[in-house]
Amino acid sequence: MIRVKNVKKDFNSDTRIHLKDIEFENGKTYAILGVSGSGKTTLLNIIAGIVNPNNGEVFIDDVEITHLSQKEKDNFRLKNIGYIFQDFKLMEEMTVEDNLNLLKIEKIKCIDIDTILEQVGLKSKRKTKVKKLSGGEKQRVAIARALIKSPKIILADEPTGSLNYEKGLEIMELLNEFHKKSNHVMIFVTHDDRMAKFADEVIQFEDILVKGGAL
Ligand SMILES: Nc1ncnc2c1ncn2[C@@H]1O[C@H](COP(=O)(O)OP(=O)(O)OP(=O)(O)O)[C@@H](O)[C@H]1O
Ligand SMILES: [Mg+2]
Repeated sequence: MIRVKNVKKDFNSDTRIHLKDIEFENGKTYAILGVSGSGKTTLLNIIAGIVNPNNGEVFIDDVEITHLSQKEKDNFRLKNIGYIFQDFKLMEEMTVEDNLNLLKIEKIKCIDIDTILEQVGLKSKRKTKVKKLSGGEKQRVAIARALIKSPKIILADEPTGSLNYEKGLEIMELLNEFHKKSNHVMIFVTHDDRMAKFADEVIQFEDILVKGGAL
């Protein structure tokens, strides 16, 4: 379960994001829709402990993460959160396999690489450098890296962003399949409201902003 309480993020005088309290329940999938620049990625980054809010608290189950040290946040994220970044954040010069092996170096408990690559349809690319993959293939490596550790929470920022509609559907079905097997929270951001059907709840980002929410 994720609880976001009284969170404000103030990047500069023009960009102030103030969120209403919001709760994400275990076992549910949430889609977040909203205009570009409204703060969707910022919300995921705050939940992941990558961006620190100026105000407020974020609870993940019983852990209040905003008060942890950066190192503790990083460890918490590595163990518990599978984050599919909007821009993937893969190691381009490394192979698919080595991108996944990085988690093992961090001593994170992972399922078998072959199994996960089979599931995302990338078994034949195991030894290929990421820089040689297509956008859709990179997206699937990013998904494999997020899911290989069977995380408590899946955050997916435009997971179908670089794919056409049909490929996007395949990816959403894949994420959904993983999610159904668990009791985990999945939050995905999308600009494509056709993908919203994969969610138990659809959140229009503007609806969770406090009106005139300047600090
Ligand atoms: N590190 C930063 N420094 C300053 N401003 C930032 C920073 N990160 C984000 N912002 C600003 O915060 C606002 C929200 O950005 P964010 O990336 O969360 O939007 P988004 O809803 O994910 O947009 P998109 O749909 O285009 O991905 C934007 O105005 C952006 O310029
Ligand atoms: Mg974004």
